[in-house]
Amino acid sequence: MSSVSEIMEHLDYGPSSEDAGAVRDWLSGRAFGHFIGGAWTAPGALFDTRDPFTGQVLAQITQGTADDVAAAVKAARKAAKGWAALPGHARARHLYALARHIQKRERFLSVLEVLDNGKPIREARDIDIPLAARHFYHHAGWAELRDTAFPGHAPLGVVGAIIPWNFPLLMLAWKIAPALAAGNAVVLKPAEYTPLTALAFAEICAEAGLPPGVVNIVTGDGATGAALVGADVDKIAFTGSTEVGRQIAETLAGTGRALTLELGGKSPFVVMPDADLDAAVEGVVDSIWFNQGQVCCAGSRLLVAESIAERFETLLRARMGRLRVGPPLDKSTDIGAIVDPVQKDRILMLCRAGVDAGAEMIGGAPGEGCFIAPGYLRGVTPANPAFGTEIFGPIATLTTFRTADEAVELANNTRYGLAASVWSESAAVATDLAARIRAGVVWINAANLFDAAAPFGGMRESGFGREGGFAGMQDYLTVSLRKTEKISTPAAPVVVPGAGQGAASIDRTAKLYIGGAQKRPDSGQMYAVPGGLAPLAGRKDVRNAVEAAAKTAPKWAAMGGHARAQVLYFLAENMAQRRDALAARTSGAEADVAIARVFHYAAWADKYDGRNVQTRPGHLVNVIPEPFGVMGVICPNTAPLAGLVSLVLPAIAMGNAVVAVAAQDDPMALFDLAQIMDTSDLPGGAVNILTGPREDLAVALAAHDEVAALWYHGAADGLRSAERAACGNLKPVWPVPALRWSDPDTQGEPFLRRAVQIKTVWLPYGTLPAGAGGAAY
Ligand code: NAI
Repeated sequence: MSSVSEIMEHLDYGPSSEDAGAVRDWLSGRAFGHFIGGAWTAPGALFDTRDPFTGQVLAQITQGTADDVAAAVKAARKAAKGWAALPGHARARHLYALARHIQKRERFLSVLEVLDNGKPIREARDIDIPLAARHFYHHAGWAELRDTAFPGHAPLGVVGAIIPWNFPLLMLAWKIAPALAAGNAVVLKPAEYTPLTALAFAEICAEAGLPPGVVNIVTGDGATGAALVGADVDKIAFTGSTEVGRQIAETLAGTGRALTLELGGKSPFVVMPDADLDAAVEGVVDSIWFNQGQVCCAGSRLLVAESIAERFETLLRARMGRLRVGPPLDKSTDIGAIVDPVQKDRILMLCRAGVDAGAEMIGGAPGEGCFIAPGYLRGVTPANPAFGTEIFGPIATLTTFRTADEAVELANNTRYGLAASVWSESAAVATDLAARIRAGVVWINAANLFDAAAPFGGMRESGFGREGGFAGMQDYLTVSLRKTEKISTPAAPVVVPGAGQGAASIDRTAKLYIGGAQKRPDSGQMYAVPGGLAPLAGRKDVRNAVEAAAKTAPKWAAMGGHARAQVLYFLAENMAQRRDALAARTSGAEADVAIARVFHYAAWADKYDGRNVQTRPGHLVNVIPEPFGVMGVICPNTAPLAGLVSLVLPAIAMGNAVVAVAAQDDPMALFDLAQIMDTSDLPGGAVNILTGPREDLAVALAAHDEVAALWYHGAADGLRSAERAACGNLKPVWPVPALRWSDPDTQGEPFLRRAVQIKTVWLPYGTLPAGAGGAAY
């Protein structure tokens, strides 16, 4: 044994392992079935779950079949009604009890998570498990307040939740807590690598007296997940890879089932010249080396100002050398095991590809077993595959930039948009970057901060929907808007031969409205509608309209709410002046609804605000609604004027530019509207109106990469095609219900919130050490 003086010589850490006795007793030789309807099923076909550190088998797990999934969904369906009917206070008490039980078993759950996942005990103990408990406490409050905070909303019914292996219990909490608070029942499928804490949670549900069937856990691999996606559920909440997310979106296309996707990322970590470099280096530790880089929001693309890059790298390498890679249960281990040998091989393969493309690897040596030392690839250009591919391991890429504009350009040079971390001592610089980087979460002078009150989720191909806080709750509820009869798909328009050739035969007003100008369709073709001939738009017109919208969108958004409100008031006044002309094309009642609606959204333009949420002391957390950019809006085929205005106005009031596909069978009023828009200071390109075969135009818009969100009003067939086409860049599609446009409540919040995507900006302030990261719980 070393003497004290010897230890003082080299100041090495001694072993300090967390005791795993209780967990091993709980596991000893166990074969688990599923937890369905409050009871355990007999184990079925089994597979092993292993400790990635030792490779030892921890327990045997049942591979869920489609029948198992169906049984779980049936149990959930049976329980859902009673659970939804409980008073909020009663549901809150159940959630509170779950939170307490998690807290009581914090040590046990931390060790279990470490054994199954390989992450260091410090992380599981200080972040994952306390945050899971915090989620249930926070959502106990939402259960209590649901009817007050979300009037007119109802639970969805049965939620299918599918989660990955990197934060097993935390991801479970992120999904189950809001689902239950909203009044839904749940079937959850944990990842095949890490099912154990979900099974322990099933025990907790039973212990805490949760009504049977409210939470069901079915284990298995991707096939079990796919069975859940295909089952009779009302929503799928998925966290995992972009590839699987896209498959799920394709499967659910046209079903009308709700979907939230939290997918991959390649998040930028921007270090400006005036950053506190020591703090930023600590941020890298939290962001990319934390959890072996197996974090969807890891700041894995280091973008560093050229002027300080050398100093930053010197500090980074020194810190990297001091990180301790070792046994996950040891309390002084910083970096634990990669979850599985398959994942380790994938990381090494991606790193090799990065080096082959010209990058230099610093650190990152593979160790025995499931270990890889922390490291980074330097000299990574945007052309290097490592720049854009999610490595999902403890390896960052490093790229330098010269100006703030270049930093933003590099940051946004990705198909993802999950998170970003920006480092600057100047509030003006940091907040400017936070505003310009396209990501669902931005941390200023911090990284990887999470809280139950702070919505988390992505933009672009990082998915849609939010988890946490008010916005997260909305995604587990449905708003009960009054609906009309079923919508049917109109027959394809019939081209009038020769009508496009001579100007004399064309109704003077019947032109497409693109980029603020009246345009003939590219094909030159027209089709007959009441009151004249309408232009038959095609794919080329869609492309032109999207281009015009994309050009205008940033300027329109940058005008701000007040200026947009003034433009919309002016438009409303001009419409009021031309009321009789509009009424002649539709009806007096419809014209009045349309005019009133424009006033309504003019009023909203500078009032649909974000909020400040309470996470932890010393953190200013802003939840900001941002426009998508270009939105596609497929308008109803009836009530052409009121329908278009009801959908297009909320979108532009929030700062989007819109390409609208007008009512196919009766669009003439919209050409009058286009003329009014022309004289109302609305920038050309903010609203573009196309007429023609609506289903084809919808698919063309849905498939266009520049269109960031789509609203589709129409029948199920058309919806399915549009939703499938939207899977390309994973744009969210809102199937607009069949509404009565004349109803005064067919406006406002339910529309506005779908016209924005949320950005959560974290700004730690005050006395907390900079870069205090996620470990502050
Ligand atoms: P994955 O997307 O394959 O698995 C996530 C979950 O989905 C697991 O529960 C899995 O069983 C299930 N699943 C797989 N195929 C399915 C299907 N066809 N239908 C329904 N469910 C299905 O992710 P995996 O294999 O765990 O990791 C692969 C990559 O995904 C990682 O390298 C990383 O890039 C990314 N990833 C992202 C995460 C995030 O938090 N956003 C977390 C974990 C992985």
